Amino acid sequence: MAKAKSYAAESKDAPLKYYEFERREPTENDVEIKILYSGICHSDIHNVRGDWDDVEYPCIPGHEIIGKVTRIGKSVKSFKPGDTVGVGVMVNSCGTCNACKTNYEQYCEEGMTLTYSSEDPIDGTDTKGGYSDLIVVTEKFVFAMPEKLDITKAAPLLCAGITMYSPLVHWQTGPGKKVAILGLGGLGHMGVKLAKAMGAEVWVFTSSPEKSEDAKSYGADGVIVSSNEEEMESAYRKFDLIVDTIPVKHELEDYLKTLKINGTICIVGQINPMPGFHGGDLIGGRKSIAGSGIGGLKETRDMLEFCAEHNVLPDVEEITMEEVNDAWDNMLNKSMSHRYVISVKDSF
Ligand SMILES: NC(=O)c1ccc[n+]([C@@H]2O[C@H](COP(=O)([O-])OP(=O)(O)OC[C@H]3O[C@@H](n4cnc5c(N)ncnc54)[C@H](OP(=O)(O)O)[C@@H]3O)[C@@H](O)[C@H]2O)c1
Ligand SMILES: [Zn+2]
Ligand SMILES: [Zn+2]
Repeated sequence: MAKAKSYAAESKDAPLKYYEFERREPTENDVEIKILYSGICHSDIHNVRGDWDDVEYPCIPGHEIIGKVTRIGKSVKSFKPGDTVGVGVMVNSCGTCNACKTNYEQYCEEGMTLTYSSEDPIDGTDTKGGYSDLIVVTEKFVFAMPEKLDITKAAPLLCAGITMYSPLVHWQTGPGKKVAILGLGGLGHMGVKLAKAMGAEVWVFTSSPEKSEDAKSYGADGVIVSSNEEEMESAYRKFDLIVDTIPVKHELEDYLKTLKINGTICIVGQINPMPGFHGGDLIGGRKSIAGSGIGGLKETRDMLEFCAEHNVLPDVEEITMEEVNDAWDNMLNKSMSHRYVISVKDSF
């Protein structure tokens, strides 16, 4: 066992604070990783604050992890101590169901093992995430980081990056396509950068007019302020695809109007119930409402290669663990248009 330092929440209302615990000894297939950087995803907030299912406390979130391998189990072939690696949203899956056998581990029929707040099939403990300085993960769920990617910035690729890449690829984003990203936060700003690198025309729907300049600096061709009726109407039948990152319940009606015939709005944000929709808004233009969850292991490796090749990296604001609670507040009040990354190496 090795001691890990972390920031944890003791209850759904408690601020995150310093907490120590033990990580297991690496089993034969495990990789032990000293965490250097950990991105802050809005899912961390939902999970800890009880927006989803009940979770165990203390809860240590964090699923955008970059670190260096410190030890490996005796059967590990792909990594050696000193390698720079990444860990994302999942750390295991059954490996045998149809989803797992077709590179959709995130849609495992048994349910994937999440990086935090899941029962670990290896030792039965509650998984603990990247707001900590050490993690032990089975080899298959560890990613080699392409050398070209700046590791001080790359952590958010492991969740925000893959969550946007997967639907953009699925709905064939590329030259000639018009894509809109709904909500300019961590996921949204990655969506803009990725869709642009894929060659599409990219727009942003935002509820925060002051984010327009940021959107353009990430590569957006245009910005629509969702409260501005004229701007919304001018986008009638404009988009092939909208990727919707809004983390709370919201109406889709006005956005459906901005889809072209055969267009799709793909929800990646809100996981809980959404308001209903009018059948006519879908029938009038053969439109689809869809959803998408992170990406599989192979797709995540493809995404990392794509980002290395096209020099796509998040804009990050580096903070230390002590600043995490303030960062969460800023995300909840929508003031952040990109990603916070905790410099774990400078935090303890
Ligand atoms: N499907 C998946 O696999 C997956 C993976 C990761 C995260 N998620 C989910 O995706 C959502 C977005 O995550 P994120 O890390 O990008 O969050 P974030 O950085 O906080 O950004 C969310 C953005 O949504 C907009 N928004 C509209 N109403 C809001 C409200 N009431 N409160 C907060 N934001 C609001 C804001 O953009 P504007 O100011 O531009 O309106 C905000 O910046 C979360 O629900 C997260 O759990 C899903
Ligand atoms: Zn996430
Ligand atoms: Zn499975």
